[in-house]
This record gives sequence, C-alpha cells and structure tokens, in this order.
Amino acid sequence: MARLRPHLLCTLSDKIRVRTEWIGARLASCRLSPYKEAPRDINTVMATSTTFLASDGAGYERNMGRWSKRLATPFLAFTRLPDGERVLDVGCGTGHLCAAIAARASHSRVDGVDIAPMYVDYARLHNHHPMISYSVGDACALAFPDASFERVLSLLALHFVTQPDQAIAEMRRVAKPGACVAAAVWDARGGFVANRLFFDTAAALDPRASERRAKNYTRPLTRPGELLAAWKRGGLREVVETQLHIRMEFSSFDDYWTPYLGNDGPGAEYVRTLEEGSKQRLRKAVQAAYLDGEEDGPRSYVALAWAVKGVA
Ligand SMILES: C[S@@+](CC[C@H](N)C(=O)[O-])C[C@H]1O[C@@H](n2cnc3c(N)ncnc32)[C@H](O)[C@@H]1O
Repeated sequence: MARLRPHLLCTLSDKIRVRTEWIGARLASCRLSPYKEAPRDINTVMATSTTFLASDGAGYERNMGRWSKRLATPFLAFTRLPDGERVLDVGCGTGHLCAAIAARASHSRVDGVDIAPMYVDYARLHNHHPMISYSVGDACALAFPDASFERVLSLLALHFVTQPDQAIAEMRRVAKPGACVAAAVWDARGGFVANRLFFDTAAALDPRASERRAKNYTRPLTRPGELLAAWKRGGLREVVETQLHIRMEFSSFDDYWTPYLGNDGPGAEYVRTLEEGSKQRLRKAVQAAYLDGEEDGPRSYVALAWAVKGVA
C-alpha cells in the first residue's frame, strides 16, 4: 500500500481544519441570529441603526404623525388586510398604522416595533388597543422567531434605517411563507411639496442647509425604482410597486412652522443648530414662500409616497 507523503497529510489536515472552521462559523452564525442575540443597550442601537431624530411623541405628531395617520389608509388598501391575521408594523412610531389595522381588522393581532422608546411610550398611551402590543426594537434585529406573521408592514420608516437591506431581510425572515411584506417611504425629492418649501428656502440662505437637503433627498429607497429593486434584491416574489398620495393641509403659517421648532424629524434637526438671528431670517423667508403674497390662512400641499409589496 502506498504510504501517504507528509505534505499530502498536511494538505488533508488543512482541508479538514478549514472545513471544521467553516462548519463552526455556520453554527456560530446560527447561534448569533439577531432574534437570539442578547438585547443591546437601546442608546447604542439608536446611535448606529437610525438616522431619524426622535425626541417626544407629541412633537412627532405635529411634525409627521398627523400625516402618517392619513397615509395609513391608502397604504392598507394597497397591502390589503384580511381579518384574523398576525401583523407586524416595523418602525411603528407613535402607532398610527397599528391603530388603523386594529380598527379595520378586529380579529387581527398587531405587533408594533420602534427603535425610539419615547414613541413607543406615546403609542402605548394614545394608540392602544387590546389586539396591539408595542415594543422597543431595531428593524435590523427583530426580536421575533422566523415565520411568525402573515403580514409584515412598514410605513415611512425604512429610509431612516442605516442598513435597509438588513431590515428587509429581517422583515422577510419573520414573515410566514406566502406572507405579504410591504413598505412605503416618501418620494422625498420629487413628491413632498411641504418639505421642499422648507428645505429649498433654507438652502438658499445657508450652505449647511443645502448639505442637509441633499442628505434628506438622497435617503436610501426614496428615489424612483429603489424600493422596488430592494424588494427584488431581498428575495421577495411577485413584487408590485405603486405610488400613494395624500394632501397635507395646514390651517395657517404657524401650523406649518411650529413643528420645525420642535425636536423631531430632519427639518427640526437643522433648525436646532441655528442661533436666534438665523432662525428668524429663515422663518421670514419660509413664511414668504408659504404666503405667496396672499393672506395667511390654509394651504394644501400634495405628498407622494412609494409603496411596494411582495410575497415572502
Ligand atoms: C417618520 S417615522 C414613521 C413612524 C410611523 N411608522 C408612522 O408612520 O408614523 C420613522 C420611524 O422609524 C423609526 N426607526 C428608524 N430607524 C429604525 C430602526 N433601525 N429600527 C426601528 N425603528 C426605526 C423611527 O424611530 C421613527 O419612529
């Protein structure tokens, strides 16, 4: 019988070692699946997993909650909502989509998850329902077992997640086979008139605002085709994209401007950096754009969102 030469023995043992390490790594990656990971400190997670400035629920309501509540209606019409399902809302904020689901599908169970504890607190107080359960968590590491939900939804949140592909993979992981996975994000650059009025005016006055405008209008998934491509990349089937629209109605310039003096959302995040003189200059310029030379009073602006759905 031919004797094995030492260098062949070495190659063989190397192969076994490499194979063993590969299997070990696979097992370790299974053990470290996000769902089983020990919960991380929420401040650390907020610093790394989101680009959204969240401060308090009431501020968010003035800034965006009142509009997301309105957008929930066409979004649910697009995703469909049979009664009796288990539904997940990823990035639930102050809970408008969860509440809309609970109101429409009375036998469904709804879980809302958001990274901002203050929004989750607000949701528990203001959008509670026996069928809804809220928790603090990261879209990129959802604390639910695989194949838990018949419908996994996300409204106006994924473009603020630092790793949107990871969040989409998580949405797909927790969806049952055949479940609907759907999301909507603002068409920030092309279809968000009220926000454009603010950022275009600010950018004309201040180059730093121009940088923030660029960041705001190039957020992931917000440009044409990006949401659709992300759904296909994420392995979802029968992917369909559409555009949803609402109108944003303001009763007066004050109603329009006040949210920018708060602590929630990208516009307020910029205004917070200004000293008083610059803030007043900006207010005057934005007011002129709002009034268009007419009396103060109601104004109505269109807002478009991209929406996508696919089958897990
Ligand atoms: C514009 S708000 C939308 C909230 C809610 N879906 C609505 O329609 O009113 C964006 C939300 O995404 C949440 N968010 C951002 N990054 C997140 C992440 N990595 N995990 C979970 N939630 C996140 C924010 O905390 C915020 O509540």
